[in-house]
Amino acid sequence: MRRYVITMTVALMMIAPLVISKLGYSHAEEKPTQTQEKPKGNVEAGKALYMVQCKRCHSTDGVPVDKIYRMLKANKVQLGSKVAQDKSDDFIRKSMTDGCCKPTNKMQAIKELTSEQIEDLLAFTRTLKQEESSKK
Ligand code: HEC
Repeated sequence: MRRYVITMTVALMMIAPLVISKLGYSHAEEKPTQTQEKPKGNVEAGKALYMVQCKRCHSTDGVPVDKIYRMLKANKVQLGSKVAQDKSDDFIRKSMTDGCCKPTNKMQAIKELTSEQIEDLLAFTRTLKQEESSKK
């Protein structure tokens, strides 16, 4: 009898995560997120522009480049972090066109961008978003 209980307990422990993940999956399918707020810019074009316009300060993955930030005495904000990604699309557009951020504006406005390029850069910036679990 004792043996039976142990076997059943082990079996249940093995099945439970499977059942739970199945449930979680179907739930996620019912509720697609991000459909309305998906940026309309072109991520690939944005990435190419980012490498030219933004990378020297924000690095490839949005991690602030130490030397530049120290020189500017700016707050280090990772573009992929919740703090940055919680900003509205308009805030991010404005950071490019008007500089960022008030009141210090340590990041200068990037003048020569067309509105299409700004949308592309915005779309790429959104792809830098880190998952909560990988955040330190
Ligand atoms: C000369 C260096 C430099 C360049 C080039 C640059 N940035 Fe920045 N950026 C900064 C600094 C410094 C800050 C932080 C300013 C502060 O906090 O005072 C910042 C802040 C930001 C923020 C706000 C983050 C937040 O929520 O606090 C966004 C968004 C941003 N940059 C996007 C971009 C994009 C997109 C580009 C390219 C089009 C770009 N930056 C180019 C230096 C730069």
